[in-house]
Amino acid sequence: MTPEQKATYMRRCFQLARLGEGRVAPNPLVGCVIATDDGILSEGYHRQFGGAHAEVNALNALTPAGRSQLGDATVFVNLEPCSHYGKTPPCADRLIAEGVRRVVVCNTDPNPQVSGRGLRKLRDAGVQVEEGLLTSEGWELNRRFFTYHELKRPYITLKWAETADGYLDADDPKPIRISSDLTKALVHKLRATEQAILVGTRTLLKDNPSLHTRRYYGAPLTRLAIDRNGRAPLSSHLLDGSQPTFLFNSRRDDAPWVRLDFDGDVIQQLLQFLYDHRIQSLIVEGGAETLRRFIVRGLYDAVQVETGVYACGKGTQAPDVPLGTALRTACYDGHRMVSFRKMKQ
Ligand SMILES: NC(=O)c1ccc[n+]([C@@H]2O[C@H](COP(=O)([O-])OP(=O)(O)OC[C@H]3O[C@@H](n4cnc5c(N)ncnc54)[C@H](OP(=O)(O)O)[C@@H]3O)[C@@H](O)[C@H]2O)c1
Repeated sequence: MTPEQKATYMRRCFQLARLGEGRVAPNPLVGCVIATDDGILSEGYHRQFGGAHAEVNALNALTPAGRSQLGDATVFVNLEPCSHYGKTPPCADRLIAEGVRRVVVCNTDPNPQVSGRGLRKLRDAGVQVEEGLLTSEGWELNRRFFTYHELKRPYITLKWAETADGYLDADDPKPIRISSDLTKALVHKLRATEQAILVGTRTLLKDNPSLHTRRYYGAPLTRLAIDRNGRAPLSSHLLDGSQPTFLFNSRRDDAPWVRLDFDGDVIQQLLQFLYDHRIQSLIVEGGAETLRRFIVRGLYDAVQVETGVYACGKGTQAPDVPLGTALRTACYDGHRMVSFRKMKQ
């Protein structure tokens, strides 16, 4: 099989894996392709948290004719096959039992207790294993999963909408509308792929946000707000019980309230709380002060900014963040949507 064919099959694994976005966390996104020099015999991906792994779905999808060619085939998978009993039996055992002779892997498992074990198990059984194909693309695909395990904190996306002249909000008591219906739906799409979303106290009290994903399908994300003195009124949308919610404060510790030490490092405690709750990704939605506190500490991985079509003249200025590597720039209804990754230090 040529290096180009191998890269193509691995990229097909990435495509398949992405279909599980918003459904498999805290598991990684994994796709699997079983192929020969002549083409793909079958494919699969991890569809749902707790469900079968990608390798098992690909093996189960083989036709009898495909299965008869398994000895000549190569199994491509973007994450090292597991070697332990979790919610499902080990994939490495299943590959060996099926008579697979060649496996190509992109990333190894970041968990030091597991890393390398699946590959060793395969090699010990005589399976030819190639690892490290397209690792940075694989890392990007599973950036939330890898950040969580490597840095022991969620992957952090700073996100805001600003007016054409750079304000998050005008100086009016009522919030202004910056997004269009279409860009709102796109924001809900972003929310549907992340696990939690945070707002600061003034946003909580002034905007009374609901932080839903109504305009896009997907699991409800966990809503978070900082409310040191527990000032959120009972009528707050965040207290409507509709989806998992935590309000960080200095007084109460009864759900949904979580007490933090506000004389200490609030962001660190908040990130530790998310780590302990296996939340691998966080959107910081604002306002400006909350975003700024993450920015000054370099505690973010990606930024998404929408620039609307109207100016407001004065108000809360949008944060200043060092430009990183631009990923996508798009325009919808005249609104500019820019997303970028943090510049490497
Ligand atoms: N356009 C957009 O995308 C967007 C998004 C969100 C909000 N907004 C607008 O932004 C405005 C509010 O922004 P803002 O900058 O005034 O306020 P904010 O960021 O919503 O809230 C800031 C307050 O939250 C608390 N806080 C935040 N981070 C903290 C930390 N790490 N540790 C301890 N406390 C922390 C502090 O409260 P204490 O005072 O208790 O210390 C701080 O003063 C509103 O007008 C809202 O409509 C716009």
